[in-house]
Amino acid sequence: MKYLSILGSTGSIGKQTLEVVNHFKDRFKVVALGAGQNVSLLKQQIIKFKPEIACVLDKKNAQILKEGLTALNNLKILYGPEGYEICASYPKADIVLVAMLGISGLRPTLAALEANKTVALANKEALVTGGSLIKKAIKKKNQILPVDSEHSAIFQLLCEENKNYLKRIILTASGGPFWETDPSDLSNVTPEQAIKHPRWAMGAKISVDSATLMNKGLEIIEAMWLFEVGLDKIKILIHPQSIVHSLIELEDGVMLAHLGPADMRLAISYALNYPQRLSFPLKPLDLTKMPLTFFPPDFKRFPCLTLAFESAKIGGSMPVVLNAANEVAIKAFLKKQIKFTDIPLLIENIMKLHTPIKEVDLETIFTIDRQTREKAKEWIKKYT
Ligand SMILES: NC(=O)c1ccc[n+]([C@@H]2O[C@H](COP(=O)([O-])OP(=O)(O)OC[C@H]3O[C@@H](n4cnc5c(N)ncnc54)[C@H](OP(=O)(O)O)[C@@H]3O)[C@@H](O)[C@H]2O)c1
Repeated sequence: MKYLSILGSTGSIGKQTLEVVNHFKDRFKVVALGAGQNVSLLKQQIIKFKPEIACVLDKKNAQILKEGLTALNNLKILYGPEGYEICASYPKADIVLVAMLGISGLRPTLAALEANKTVALANKEALVTGGSLIKKAIKKKNQILPVDSEHSAIFQLLCEENKNYLKRIILTASGGPFWETDPSDLSNVTPEQAIKHPRWAMGAKISVDSATLMNKGLEIIEAMWLFEVGLDKIKILIHPQSIVHSLIELEDGVMLAHLGPADMRLAISYALNYPQRLSFPLKPLDLTKMPLTFFPPDFKRFPCLTLAFESAKIGGSMPVVLNAANEVAIKAFLKKQIKFTDIPLLIENIMKLHTPIKEVDLETIFTIDRQTREKAKEWIKKYT
């Protein structure tokens, strides 16, 4: 039996993780759950999975949860950043699945690693903003098991012998809903269109990231930290069918690809059951029914990808700025305060204002994050 702490349990990845847990009831027991503000769903999850501890975003939500769960006297209810860290380092947990949103996943990821837990990491922003700190906090081999489907694919392809001959990592991208849209039409894109992903059902933030291709940009930085490779060893290919989850190219020219259904429960199940492979019931792939096509990305149409490459090249504090400006831009776009095409414009302008710092500690990361958010909000007020 493996004991799990699931952070971000009310989100797209969190809910799919609980489906996997429910399927492998004899292998997993949930001991901690963390959500943001969706108290009613968290309450249902608590009643079904009976964790010992739960955490929400703030005191008010903790109070609402407490009042709704009077019968569960043994449940400890926490709130805020400290509460998530306590869930991440909960003594009974073996695996901590981090599927919170944005930079909120960084502190719990560090807390889990420091407490010697295995981390099933969906939250790519933790590595984007705090990759150097996460790297230092790792205590054992395979302590981080990637949940992002592309990185799970590469993790599975990169066995020890292949690592010695790795020429390149090729991250595939679906291209999102607009990869064929005329660039002049992109300014009219609505939030409803942007979050309607052609292949994956995901949370709103990552769906917009997929539409701007910033998601692939964040994944480049995630791959650099996870697999210890330079930017020159990472390539992106648009693959609209989302069947090939990623590839590696070896020195002799051989390419190894990872294929599977476009279903996150596959990568979640792999991370939770690692090193065993247990099958979660999914419709098998029928390769005779699908052409597999690949295209180079169009950097002009998707400037967010260029910005992510630039920030990865600069490194240090710049990815923190990229991430914070992007988080603010997406929130504003979803509230219809800015246009789809303003997202890269905002990020570019905020990145230009930043003088990069090479080495960052946790306090510096959160100071830069806060300052960047303020600047981004000012930009929105001034230019929209
Ligand atoms: N969805 C996918 O297919 C997918 C694939 C690969 C990687 N990822 C990564 O996984 C992470 C989660 O994605 P998602 O699509 O599952 O997002 P989502 O559906 O928006 O869910 C986010 C979860 O985090 C919680 N949350 C939001 N803000 C929070 C905060 N400030 N503090 C604590 N908890 C907070 C939410 O709580 P409430 O809803 O209760 O407020 C929810 O439980 C992201 O980093 C994403 O890039 C997702």
